[in-house]
Amino acid sequence: MSKRTPRRLPPFLQRVALGVWVCTLATASLAAPPATAPAPPTQAPPVAGQPTDDGLTTPEALATADAARAAAQAADDASQPQERPKPIEEPRTEYLGRTLAEPMSHLGAAWLVRAERDLEENASRAFKQLGLKPGMKVCDLGCGNGYWTLPIARDLGAEGRVYAVDIQVEMLQQLKARVAGRELTNVTPILGDVDNPRLPEDVKLDLILQVDVYHEFSHPQSMLWEMRRSLAPEGVIALLEYREEDPNVPIKPLHKMSKAQIMKEYQANGFKLVREYNELPWQHLMFFARDDSPLPEILPEPFVPK
Ligand SMILES: C[S@@+](CC[C@H](N)C(=O)[O-])C[C@H]1O[C@@H](n2cnc3c(N)ncnc32)[C@H](O)[C@@H]1O
Repeated sequence: MSKRTPRRLPPFLQRVALGVWVCTLATASLAAPPATAPAPPTQAPPVAGQPTDDGLTTPEALATADAARAAAQAADDASQPQERPKPIEEPRTEYLGRTLAEPMSHLGAAWLVRAERDLEENASRAFKQLGLKPGMKVCDLGCGNGYWTLPIARDLGAEGRVYAVDIQVEMLQQLKARVAGRELTNVTPILGDVDNPRLPEDVKLDLILQVDVYHEFSHPQSMLWEMRRSLAPEGVIALLEYREEDPNVPIKPLHKMSKAQIMKEYQANGFKLVREYNELPWQHLMFFARDDSPLPEILPEPFVPK
């Protein structure tokens, strides 16, 4: 057995060896970012302008160290959830097996504020499920003439705000007239596009309410993408749709949706179900959050005829 002491490399070769080691580390990180977080290096790479443990501050060593840090940062960024780009979507007549409905005309707007609506749909009960609190930021998407917007504005108070979005200018005119009659100051009417609600870029919403509107979207993917972008991390969409599974709901089939279809479309666009309320006479009420929200996901209860 050799008892010789190992020979130390001369200082010049020590520098070359360190350079090759750092270079190899940088190339490997750039070529194939690991699926899991990389193990921390046993020795910290040199920092520009500061001497290393062994006094190395050559430009080559510092440059390769910078490259190693950049590669580590890129690997870290790659492990974060990325936003998908907005889909390029033509007007549709069908989506994931569902035939889309035409938007309800403003000429029928009186039906939205009919006296018997609360009796038929029990909107008051649905309203209580929204969990409104003063100061919240809410969007009433597809607001029509404001059957829901007005009581929401009342409950949010002066510190809160409701963005009331519709694609029909006539609906917004009727909404504005009804708002003016009640002297509410926290309603922002917005004329949306069929594929973009045109919400302010910097607002993160606590709630997006959609009552009997989602099934009318001609660009459902684009609208879901925009809603996802505007939701706060713990914000939710409250989706009300007439129950397709229920033959007793006296609404045309094209204007109804089943839970299974709703789940299919929302899950395909980056949402998870976080709550539901199954006690309304005609509608499903389902709450969705972004799929990266801290809110826990639940499974939908099957529809049971009453
Ligand atoms: C059946 S009405 C419901 C109105 C209101 N949510 C209510 O419950 O009284 C549907 C409304 O959605 C609007 N709408 C349809 N597509 C839309 C879109 N892409 N963006 C915003 N509003 C839309 C229609 O113009 C119509 O006023």
